[in-house]
Amino acid sequence: MAKADPIFANPFRPGAGHIPPYLAGREIERDEFARLLRQDVILENMILTGLRGVGKTVLLETFKPIAQSAGWLWVGADLSEAATISEDALATRLITDLSIVSSAFSMDVVRDPRLLQRESVTASQPLDYVTLAEHFNTTPGLVSDKLRSVLELVWSNIPRNGQRGIIFAYDEAQNLADHSAKDQYPLSLLLETFQSIQKKDIPFMLVLTGLPTLFPKLVEARTYAERMFRVVFLERLAEAASKEAILKPITETNCPIRFSDESVEIICRISGGYPYFIQFICREVFDLFIQKTEVGKPRVVPVDEIVRKLDTDFFSGRWARATDRQRQLLWVIAQLPNCESEFTAQEVVERSRLAEFKSFSPSHVNQMLATLSEAGLIYKNRRGKYSFAVPLLSGFINRQGPPAY
Ligand SMILES: Nc1ncnc2c1ncn2[C@@H]1O[C@H](COP(=O)(O)OP(=O)(O)OP(=O)(O)O)[C@@H](O)[C@H]1O
Ligand SMILES: [Mg+2]
Repeated sequence: MAKADPIFANPFRPGAGHIPPYLAGREIERDEFARLLRQDVILENMILTGLRGVGKTVLLETFKPIAQSAGWLWVGADLSEAATISEDALATRLITDLSIVSSAFSMDVVRDPRLLQRESVTASQPLDYVTLAEHFNTTPGLVSDKLRSVLELVWSNIPRNGQRGIIFAYDEAQNLADHSAKDQYPLSLLLETFQSIQKKDIPFMLVLTGLPTLFPKLVEARTYAERMFRVVFLERLAEAASKEAILKPITETNCPIRFSDESVEIICRISGGYPYFIQFICREVFDLFIQKTEVGKPRVVPVDEIVRKLDTDFFSGRWARATDRQRQLLWVIAQLPNCESEFTAQEVVERSRLAEFKSFSPSHVNQMLATLSEAGLIYKNRRGKYSFAVPLLSGFINRQGPPAY
């Protein structure tokens, strides 16, 4: 089959971590990152947090060239659950990632002249994975001592001219956790290690991104985390930025499709300014308008169909994993006028008394909110209030109607 003309290719990219055709807004966040890069001694690290699909991963990607052009080296990866299962696993993760950039540098090592049987006693050895792992394994002490020693070794062998420091950028950092039952504290290890090397004026900066559960988790592990991080909460896009996200990709590419002002308004409204929804809806609308153009029909955004598709593709999988009782609780929450901002457990208890099904006791609500937090549907903020962790969830819940009782 012949390939579609690239001019006609749909530019929109709904999907986790897919770079959008135009990354709208986020100037304040980028300025904030640039400010942190100007630190000589690292007093503040960064946390980039926000709801699902708000654009954390793609914004972190754009930080990389900003850091590099300011003279920083960039190390990073996704923090999978496996990477944070134990202290050794986390240390291996950091050393593996660091070795990719450090292997470009080398250190002088003193060789035992008796072994070499010649005069020369120094040799140059690259700071590659083998070297770092060996240093780690032969350093005495706890995992934290070994890891710190590796980081110090690397920094002491990087030439000062040109390199400002190293950024350690980790996505999905909400996966970090301490496991006291197994006596494994990888989250605390990360915080302790960076706090201690930063105290020694080593310019290694952490940039962690993740769901809103991330920061409270760090503070719970080490209270000083509160002072270690500048937390940037990514919000939905403002109206002007939403419009740019919708229009720039189709005005800048010679594309034959046009979205009317009315269509743009509708897309802004259904998406609520949430980047993933903007990409999703625009991708659908683009495909549809191309077809409609072919048969000469008018171009109107079919709101109901798109909302239904979004429900099926985005929300229903999450909903399917909730139990009947959890759905009842979520439905109660969705009846609160403030459910899309923040709400208290007490408000949920009170509202549940009006429901057709059995109401919830305060302890039951607290316990269920904790379970729903673990499932990634709800999170508790630092003021002790709760919010939905998934954007526009209340609209979906209400479209399902009151749950059976
Ligand atoms: N500023 C933006 N302008 C336009 N589109 C954006 C913007 N930010 C993100 N997107 C789009 O939104 C979608 C989600 O982005 P991304 O995967 O970075 O979100 P996330 O916050 O990391 O999500 P998750 O919580 O699932 O990890 C992608 O399709 C991306 O292209
Ligand atoms: Mg992401």
